[in-house]
Amino acid sequence: MKPLIVVTRTIHPDAIAQLNRVGTVQLWDGEDAIPPNLLRDWIQTADACLTMLTDRIDDSVVRHASHLKVVSNMAVGYDNIDVGALNRHHIVVTNTPDVLTEATAELTWALLLSLLRNVSASRDDLLSGFWRTWKPDRFLGTEVAGKTLGIVGLGRIGRAVARRAAPFLVDVVALSRDGREMQDGEILRLPTPKFLQKADVVSLHVPLTNETRHLVNDQWLLAMKPGSYLINTSRGPVVDEDALMRALESGRLAGAALDVFAQDPIDRGHPLATHPRVLATPHIGSATHETRRAMALRAAENISQVLAGFPPRDLVHPLSD
Ligand code: NAP
Ligand code: GLV
Ligand code: GLV
Repeated sequence: MKPLIVVTRTIHPDAIAQLNRVGTVQLWDGEDAIPPNLLRDWIQTADACLTMLTDRIDDSVVRHASHLKVVSNMAVGYDNIDVGALNRHHIVVTNTPDVLTEATAELTWALLLSLLRNVSASRDDLLSGFWRTWKPDRFLGTEVAGKTLGIVGLGRIGRAVARRAAPFLVDVVALSRDGREMQDGEILRLPTPKFLQKADVVSLHVPLTNETRHLVNDQWLLAMKPGSYLINTSRGPVVDEDALMRALESGRLAGAALDVFAQDPIDRGHPLATHPRVLATPHIGSATHETRRAMALRAAENISQVLAGFPPRDLVHPLSD
């Protein structure tokens, strides 16, 4: 019998074709995410499951899935999966690194430029009829050139963001993980207080772990430069949103651009989403045609490898905390 492969979303047809060559695909093609109860049902008889970051996969989901060998997450982040619990059931977990690095770095720069230069906010003003004449003091933003960008999480995406800084005449510093100041190639790594005193824009690129949850809290925001900006394209819970609201309201923070939220999707009436100095986007870091196809193919490839008895290219281990 061919292996059964559950796929929790409509993905690129090339990836479905690849999966059809190695098994029978059971696809959820609903408009919303697959209901957790249905996923739990389907997974009981599956040999492999291709999941999205919107699917929560833990012990309760896989406990009775006696054939399941691999959960292949179509994302680089895998905080939605309890890898330790799955490994105890001899299920391997994979992700899709690299293929979304450039797309996510591009979005980070799009947000940075739009936030500092009011691109999105001034478009809203134009559509609301507030553009009556050119005026020296209207729609003023902050010049990007000459600023310092602070990267938190100097991994694949963090480095890709840093690589794009020089043409915009922006300096880069990175947060040091162990508190030691050190040169890392071209980039100076600084301990938290020094890092936050230096950065005009802080951009988050860490995975969500117990250590990074609410990394950006009241204390962090108070230590940021007055009038600085925060960009989050990592995971919502890395930021304490109540503390962020306080920092925006007090005027300490000039603005924030957020692609991810404590609750994904954020309600469109949420005070953060509607805040005049917040640019909110609906988790679109990897959302390009090229990247989403590459992610789907990479996730399918990981499944093919496991079903063929090989170690998968993108095996992940439990997230450290
Ligand atoms: P990565 O290559 O693993 O980079 C993460 C970096 O964070 C690593 O350099 C890691 O350092 C560092 N780090 C981990 N914990 C830290 C801490 N407590 N303090 C400081 N640095 C810490 O991952 P990536 O491919 O760049 O992806 C990063 C994250 O971006 C993903 O986990 C995902 O959540 C998010 N993401 C979001 C979107 C979106 O659509 N918005 C798209 C893609 C990815 P070590 O190497 O020393 O562990
Ligand atoms: C997207 O957020 C990802 O982790 O790939
Ligand atoms: C603006 O359009 C200028 O010419 O300065």
